Amino acid sequence: MIMHKPGTGTIIKEAFRQGIVVPGFNIPYLPMMEPVIRALYDTETFGLIMVARLEWIKFKSGSMKTIRDEYEKLKDLKFTRLHLDHVPVIDEDNLLTDFENIISEAIELGYDSVMIDGSRLSLEENIEKTRRIVELAHKSDIPVEAELGAVLGHESGPLPPYEELFATGKGFTSPDEAKRFVLETRTDWLSVAIGNIHGAISVAARTEKKIEARLAIPHLKKINETINIPLVLHGGTGIGKEYLMKSFKEGIAKINIATAIRQPFEKLMNSSVKEAQEAVYNEMIDIINNQLEIGGSAKLIHQN
Ligand code: 13P
Repeated sequence: MIMHKPGTGTIIKEAFRQGIVVPGFNIPYLPMMEPVIRALYDTETFGLIMVARLEWIKFKSGSMKTIRDEYEKLKDLKFTRLHLDHVPVIDEDNLLTDFENIISEAIELGYDSVMIDGSRLSLEENIEKTRRIVELAHKSDIPVEAELGAVLGHESGPLPPYEELFATGKGFTSPDEAKRFVLETRTDWLSVAIGNIHGAISVAARTEKKIEARLAIPHLKKINETINIPLVLHGGTGIGKEYLMKSFKEGIAKINIATAIRQPFEKLMNSSVKEAQEAVYNEMIDIINNQLEIGGSAKLIHQN
């Protein structure tokens, strides 16, 4: 029998069409990958294994290559694909990165999809840089995720008060800008800002409990109706469940989760890596079955 291997682009489109969500899990420490994939396998759930640039710079994932090598050992194509998360053009410390080289290298290494994050740039510059990456990635048939709007939290300074952020909608993705952005860049998926925030990653704040975020569902609905492409929700840890469930029906086809599985690992990793891995596994089972209610999703996603 020929091994059927739909690309991540096809899979996310199918999730979008059915109103189900594909979770992506960040791997800031290499031993986290095994329990993440084991939980996906045991629950027959489809998910993405992800690494972001900041996770090999500020955490211990190693490099894009070490993550790729570990993934090759553990992958199961029924349940997993490999995704390159946040490659910022300007990073959380306000430094310019060599984003184009990083993304080219990821494609050569065999990553199944990539993200370019131009969200700290002006709209024009974000369009220009994203378009370049889309052209590059599409040559190899690799789908691209881009970001428009400000999903805060990775920066080391204090966050503006959450209630103020949510009430004013400051930094939210504008549906009109999104329309222009998608038309001019041809990005496959768009990460949106609708009240979601990232878990803190600065050394001083990374062990803190994340505040419970809400989502502006009517705003999401407007974006979804305007651009009609799969949308991505970053900052997936600690969002109220009723908001999550609604968002999956309004275009969110991929959700990124890092803090929820990183913190239990960090708590135990210095005493026992094995116990830290089991803590990740247990959290994964809870996320899949109770928080996202997507246990068994692989069957639905591969049905066509
Ligand atoms: P959390 O840390 O809030 O789960 O966000 C993860 C994320 O969006 C990574 O891209």
